[in-house]
Amino acid sequence: MSVYDRLQEAVAAIARATGRDRHDAAVVLGSGLSDYARGLEGAVEVPYRAIPHFPVPKVEGHAGELYSVPFPDGNVLVLAGRVHAYEGWDLDDVVFAVRAAASSGCRRVVLTNAAGGVADGLAPGDLVVIRDHLNLTGRNPLVGPNDDRLGPRFPDLSAAYSPQLRATFAEVFADAGVHHREGVYAWMLGPSYETPAEIQMVARAGGDLVGMSTVPETIALRHMGVDVGAISLVTNLAAGISPTPLSHQEVTETATRAKARITAVLDALLPRLMRL
Ligand code: HPA
Repeated sequence: MSVYDRLQEAVAAIARATGRDRHDAAVVLGSGLSDYARGLEGAVEVPYRAIPHFPVPKVEGHAGELYSVPFPDGNVLVLAGRVHAYEGWDLDDVVFAVRAAASSGCRRVVLTNAAGGVADGLAPGDLVVIRDHLNLTGRNPLVGPNDDRLGPRFPDLSAAYSPQLRATFAEVFADAGVHHREGVYAWMLGPSYETPAEIQMVARAGGDLVGMSTVPETIALRHMGVDVGAISLVTNLAAGISPTPLSHQEVTETATRAKARITAVLDALLPRLMRL
């Protein structure tokens, strides 16, 4: 079955399970951030396993849930739980949930993630709006025959991260009283963290952040003509910059500590996503 046909089945199942035919914007919650959707008023929760073709994350804690959240100007899909290329998934699976969001009507998608800080001055807990990316994996979700129903063979990525959404993020951060900066996110395959030499390479190549997600989703969404915004939570200093060895525990602990600030930002952001 083609990706396109799988998407049609997923879209129909999302409409049926949420009772809402259309969603206007989506947010993907990254590592350690996936609790956010639980408390949202009017949210309808659907487990990924109830939606045909959705990849179900195997990692501890989060089986993957989609939330449909109503706002005065439209409905937002919140995707809590994503799958990563380093788990061995095909990139078609890695990007399936965001493609399904786009196919359900979402014209704007905000991706969040946990990342290592590479640029000078970054500290764990910082929030960084992604301005551009470096794909250092040599992998791309669009490799293979192109389906023109999804998008063009050679999509343009010269403004991969929507300038308009970046401007909105700046306003939202200001309103929420949360400091932020902008940076370039480098996608590494993982699952091992980088070596200090790799981080030096990333820094010299212009990378400010390093992480194992987001870029394939951005590429697949731009292919479909969707506006993408992305926000990284710096959970640790990158290898060789950090004085201590890297650990997944540090990543999740920093995410937990940043929860209140991230909640304030997302609370301010979600209702505005349909108003741009
Ligand atoms: N490297 C890659 N991915 C990450 C890191 C890191 O330092 N921190 C959180 N995700």
